[in-house]
Amino acid sequence: MNLPIRPRRNRQSSAMRDLVRETDLNPGHLIYPLFLQEGGENTPIASMPGCTRWSLDGLVKEAGEAHALGVPAVVLFPRIPDELKTRDAAACFADDGLVPRAIRALKSAHPTLTIITDVALDPYNSDGHDGLVADDGRILNDETVAVLCQQALCHARAGADMVSPSDMMDGRVAALREALDAAGFQAVSIMSYTAKYASAYYGPFRGALDSAPKAGDKKTYQMDPANAREALREAALDEAEGADILMVKPAGPYLDIIAKIRAATTLPIAAYQVSGEYLMIKSASAAGWLDEAKIVHESLIGIRRAGADMILTYFAKQWSASWR
Ligand code: PBG
Repeated sequence: MNLPIRPRRNRQSSAMRDLVRETDLNPGHLIYPLFLQEGGENTPIASMPGCTRWSLDGLVKEAGEAHALGVPAVVLFPRIPDELKTRDAAACFADDGLVPRAIRALKSAHPTLTIITDVALDPYNSDGHDGLVADDGRILNDETVAVLCQQALCHARAGADMVSPSDMMDGRVAALREALDAAGFQAVSIMSYTAKYASAYYGPFRGALDSAPKAGDKKTYQMDPANAREALREAALDEAEGADILMVKPAGPYLDIIAKIRAATTLPIAAYQVSGEYLMIKSASAAGWLDEAKIVHESLIGIRRAGADMILTYFAKQWSASWR
């Protein structure tokens, strides 16, 4: 064939492929979500094989190992004992609560590790929703935002570097920024769950924390999976309200959303490879149907290629242990 243009020339050797590779992935791009619980036990999570609900000691050790592999940040998800869950979710801002104690333990053991906390009421709420629930079942927006501010301040007092509102209430980024600044926490960053979809991919996570809603679903606050323009509207609002990082969640099934927000903002973008994405890879690999290491890498590269600067992934430590 008379073909002057042959794209395969750029793929002809490993060295050539290294030269033309467009997307890179290293442990510095990853954020490690960690589950924690009261008491001295480390409990394997049935719905998320390979993940554990850690005691404080276990958490400090696991976070330290990931950090030593180059992972710069962790994000914390607590399982709160049932007796502390109330309809006003007030345990979420107790200074002696599980999360503030974990922050202090992590900070003193690993001063260079960035500590991110989840800001939402669901682990503390007897109704299991991210917001306060009225008697008629409505999720109360403005009342919830006031509690989220108290929760974020509690995390900041304990030493959190970044708070990450996952609740999807309107106006919470501006309110959090104002509350943090007024209390002298100008340096605490906000990573906003900007486009968080009402997704069935969160199923295994809710199993891990016993945090499924007791009634109804999350569709009045989390986004409709059918919508993309609406994600740009949320992104514009979060940026205007002062978010430092915008997040898309889930990641793999929403690569188009990552790419669209990437094109619409100069802010850094995070994407959350959620529990269902993790479980699909783990279970298909355990059955011998997929090559786990290769699938993990490809799933993460795809998320980076779509435009995510950083990825929250349960594979953060595992992938970082074997990337070279
Ligand atoms: C709740 C929260 C959820 C996740 C992170 N924060 C679940 C939900 O919204 O129901 C899901 C994470 C995952 O599935 O890995 N604020």
